[in-house]
Amino acid sequence: MYQKPMLKEGSLKDQVIVVTGGGSGLGKAMTTYFLELGAHVVITSRNMEKLEKTKLELEGKTGGTVLAVQCDVRNYTEVEAVLQATLDKFGKVDGLLNNAAGNFISPTERLSANAFDTVIDIVLKGSKNCTLAFGKHWINIKQPKSTILNIVTTYAWTGSAYVVPSATAKAGVLAMTRSLAVEWAKYGIRSNAIAPGPFPTEGAWDRLLPGNLRDKFDMKKKVPVGRVGEHQELANLAAYLMSDFSAYINGEVITIDGGEWLKGAGEFNMLEDVPKEMWDMLEAMIRSKKK
Ligand code: HXC
Ligand code: NAP
Repeated sequence: MYQKPMLKEGSLKDQVIVVTGGGSGLGKAMTTYFLELGAHVVITSRNMEKLEKTKLELEGKTGGTVLAVQCDVRNYTEVEAVLQATLDKFGKVDGLLNNAAGNFISPTERLSANAFDTVIDIVLKGSKNCTLAFGKHWINIKQPKSTILNIVTTYAWTGSAYVVPSATAKAGVLAMTRSLAVEWAKYGIRSNAIAPGPFPTEGAWDRLLPGNLRDKFDMKKKVPVGRVGEHQELANLAAYLMSDFSAYINGEVITIDGGEWLKGAGEFNMLEDVPKEMWDMLEAMIRSKKK
């Protein structure tokens, strides 16, 4: 049920979408679905071998066209080269998915200045580089419509201990999403974000739950719906936000986390642990205090 594709066939027909970090994890899952819906997809990351492998796999699986371009999003010149390669191959670009990220858990005081910078540079500067290069292009050629979709996290607004560079950077990406939604709407550019809760991927789990932390902190237990996310669920939402079906959605961040962040936030959510049979007694105690 959770793995069912949502949109009708051809919903992204002939759209050209660039997915940063599209060679693995959630970027690969979203790329797969965009291709299934008829889009042409440009995947970028630092590892060309991985990108080429993903290109072959996904072209075989979906019959779509993938262009793999090596690019470190921290480098503006390389980002501009991705834009040019996209235009050379497809003649246009319609969507940018800022998905590439760097992250690892650490007490903040253990981080070197360079470690902190590294995460900020990939997440915030990388998203900025792509947004600026593609935005300038769309504005210059007066393209009637285009879409930017940013992948953030729920701790972009709550913050989170032990992933402080990532939280700081994702908060910046969220601010950029909302700011440009207003400033660039007049150029036909929509900006939205998705805030995923836990969706197991090798890239994230190896860095956020190394070793036996994976068993010690079962992510499912943090989520009210009692499970982690399926990649197709995220791909469904991303495809919708990339498509014209969401043309009136601009400046929004959509959370897809089974209620996880709110479970951590609600003052009395701990009462979930009170056994059902205890509620008669608790109610009687409360009522007995009535004057
Ligand atoms: C402390 C560390 C460290 C660690 C690296 N550094 N790992 N410091 N603890 N575990 C330090 C290094 O010593 C160095 O500082 C600096 O960080 C840069 O490290 P490099 O290895 O040179 O960087 P680079 O090769 O650019 O790799 C970037 C990376 C790496 C972020 C460190 O993990 C990476 O490539 N990540 C990409 C994929 C990824 O992170 N995916 C997960 C996204 S998950 P010095 O001072 O020594 O030079 C996500 C989900 C969140 O965002 C929400 C989940 C629910
Ligand atoms: P992932 O597989 O590690 O994906 C990260 C991708 O970013 C990789 O493909 C990586 O490719 C690329 N990348 C990293 N640094 C780069 C750089 N400097 N330049 C270009 N590309 C770079 O992790 P994921 O779980 O799929 O994460 C995808 C997105 O979802 C991220 O934005 C993450 O913050 C977000 N997210 C994930 C979860 C989750 O539970 N998985 C939850 C919330 C948010 P290379 O290494 O080849 O460069």
